[in-house]
Amino acid sequence: MRKVEVAVIGGSGLENLLKGEEQIRVGTPYGLAPLISVGNINGKSVAFLPRHGLHHSVPPHKVNYHANVYAFHKLGAERVIATNAVGAINRRFKVGDFAVPHDFIDFTRLRQPTYYNDEVIHIDVSQPYCPEMRSVLIEKAEKFGVKISAKAVLVCTEGPRYETPAEIEMFRRLGCDMVGMTGIPEAVLARELEMCYATLCFVTNMAAGIQKRLTAEEVATTARDKTPPIQQILRETIKHLPAKRRCPCAHALRDAKLRD
Ligand code: HPA
Repeated sequence: MRKVEVAVIGGSGLENLLKGEEQIRVGTPYGLAPLISVGNINGKSVAFLPRHGLHHSVPPHKVNYHANVYAFHKLGAERVIATNAVGAINRRFKVGDFAVPHDFIDFTRLRQPTYYNDEVIHIDVSQPYCPEMRSVLIEKAEKFGVKISAKAVLVCTEGPRYETPAEIEMFRRLGCDMVGMTGIPEAVLARELEMCYATLCFVTNMAAGIQKRLTAEEVATTARDKTPPIQQILRETIKHLPAKRRCPCAHALRDAKLRD
C-alpha cells in the first residue's frame, strides 16, 4: 500500500472526507485500531480513523489512543490532524465557534500517558501542537469565513461524565479556554512518535455552570451541523500542507533522552 501522508482522527460524520477510499484493519502492539479508511485528497494519500469506533461505541476513557496513533505511524503518516468537540469555558466563545488550541492542561487520571515505559524519555511539549499545521488550519478556516480562534488552552478531563460547575470555574481560573475528554494522551503519543499533531476544536456547548445543563444530544447535534465546514477546512488544510516538514516535531526524540 502507498504510504499515508496525512492522518485524520475525528468523530463520526467525517467518513466521507476521502475519495476512492479503501477500508483497512491495522494491528499494533497495543491492539487493533478501529477500521481505517484510506483515500486521497488532491493526490495526497490520507487516512481517517473514527476515534470512538465506527458506531461511536467507545467512551473517551476507553479509547485505545495507543493503538490509534500507532496505527497511523505504522502506515507511514507523519502528520495527524484531529478534531475535537469541546465545551467552552471562556465566554468569548459561542456554540459553533472553532479554535485551534496552542496549549493544553492534562486533567486525565487513569490513562497510560506514554509509549515509553521501559526507557526514560522526556518529550518536550513547550509547543504541544505542531506550529506549522496550526497555522495552515487557521489560515484555511479563515478563508471559509468561519469564526476561529488562533489561540486557546484546552483542558482534557477523564470523563465520561461532564464537569461540575466548580471544576469548570477552577479550570477557568487556571487559564483554560475549552474542555474536552479526548485530546490527551493522543497529542502526546503523536509527539512521542515524532508525528506532527494539531487539533481543530469546535464548540458544542458552553461548559457546566455557564449554561444550565448539558446533554449528549446537543453535543451530537452541533457536531453533525459542523461536519460540512470541518470537512472543508480539513480538505483545504491537507491540500496546502507543505511537502517537507519544517517544524520541531520531526526531531522530538533527539533531545528527549539522557546521554549515557
Ligand atoms: N465537557 C467535556 N467534554 C466535552 C464537552 C464538555 O462540556 N462538550 C463536548 N465535549
